[in-house]
Amino acid sequence: MKNNIHPIFDRLLQRGDREKILNQRSKVLWLTGLSGSGKSTIAQALERHLYNNQFFAQVLDGDNIRSGINNNLGFSLEDRQENIRRIAEVAKLYLESGVITINSFISPTVEIRNFAKNITGSADFIEIYINAPLEVCEQRDVKGLYQKARKGEIKGFTGIDSPYEAPQNPALEIRTDKISLEEAVITIYDYVLPHIRY
Ligand code: ADX
Repeated sequence: MKNNIHPIFDRLLQRGDREKILNQRSKVLWLTGLSGSGKSTIAQALERHLYNNQFFAQVLDGDNIRSGINNNLGFSLEDRQENIRRIAEVAKLYLESGVITINSFISPTVEIRNFAKNITGSADFIEIYINAPLEVCEQRDVKGLYQKARKGEIKGFTGIDSPYEAPQNPALEIRTDKISLEEAVITIYDYVLPHIRY
């Protein structure tokens, strides 16, 4: 090409170009909390609420990740870190494509969450602590897993015999034993809106 000058239409498409067509800024919304704290429920309701407000978001959670791309991983701290590493890499791809992701994983330690934040970049990572006391999660026991963990039928269960470290400085903390699902969704939506509005 003459003078090695490339016309502008040859330029690689950027994240900003995709955000423009989607009329939104992409972010990684990272929900952390115990099993049974309400992450998945909130993630799904938030996805719907964002959709109703013309935002394009995608939930990533155990159902679509641990059953597919991560179906070779268990629950040792090592495997959890690898689980989160791959998820963060997937979230980063979505980020580049202009899509907001709602990541719903226990992600039990500060180290594991920092690992994820370093992959996606801290500027795009919004940490949301979905907090219900262990007793409440255990009482809910939606999947019957706490009971199994107490009986010793599941080893290394988060909160029972595997650690959960609460975030020290999350962008938001949602107490699901104190507020309704609707309130939780509105609280998160109001917080993220300035970050995702184009
Ligand atoms: S993480 O620790 O690697 O972030 P992730 O969120 O993907 O965990 O998966 C947690 C879900 O797996 C729980 O909600 C529960 O249904 C199931 N599960 C099975 N075994 C365990 C375990 N040992 N500890 C925690 N959750 C488990």
